[in-house]
Amino acid sequence: MYLIEPIFLEGLVVKGFGRGSKQLGYPTANFSENAIESLPKTLRNGVYFGFANLDAENKIYRMVANLGYCPFFQNTQRSFETHILHDFPTDFYGSLLKVAIIDYIREERNFTSIDCLILQIENDIKLANVKLDKYQLSAQIYQKFNIES
Ligand SMILES: Cc1cc2nc3c(=O)[nH]c(=O)nc-3n(C[C@H](O)[C@H](O)[C@H](O)COP(=O)(O)O)c2cc1C
Repeated sequence: MYLIEPIFLEGLVVKGFGRGSKQLGYPTANFSENAIESLPKTLRNGVYFGFANLDAENKIYRMVANLGYCPFFQNTQRSFETHILHDFPTDFYGSLLKVAIIDYIREERNFTSIDCLILQIENDIKLANVKLDKYQLSAQIYQKFNIES
């Protein structure tokens, strides 16, 4: 099952708390607050997967993301944290990030330990890859990312 249509979000990458790379081993790119406010109000908090494009490069990466308050870390601000499934040599604060949200995986939740959260993220990535293997990239996604199909 996929969302009826992909949901697109774009904005500059701002600094989060930096725990994604340091504590989890899964660096996440955070969107500015106004980018998050542009999301449909009905989009529920939780873990999503889809595609990402950085700085108008001619590349489409896969991504997993968490929307919400990260109950494990008890954030007070809602965030959309994107983990791009690619090893980047440096961070990319200030870059223009575009994402296409394809579908929902699960609710965000609390965990008894950071290792349990890490295991869950590994499973989220496996599931996202299985689903995206079967997903046909649409012309709309190429268009939004400004990439020739
Ligand atoms: C795929 C994925 C799923 C996540 N699921 C949860 C979750 O269920 N609960 C939670 O508290 N944090 C979850 N996180 C962690 C946060 O979204 C975020 O990465 C973490 O708080 C570090 O953010 P920071 O780098 O801004 O400090 C998840 C992260 C990813 C990439």
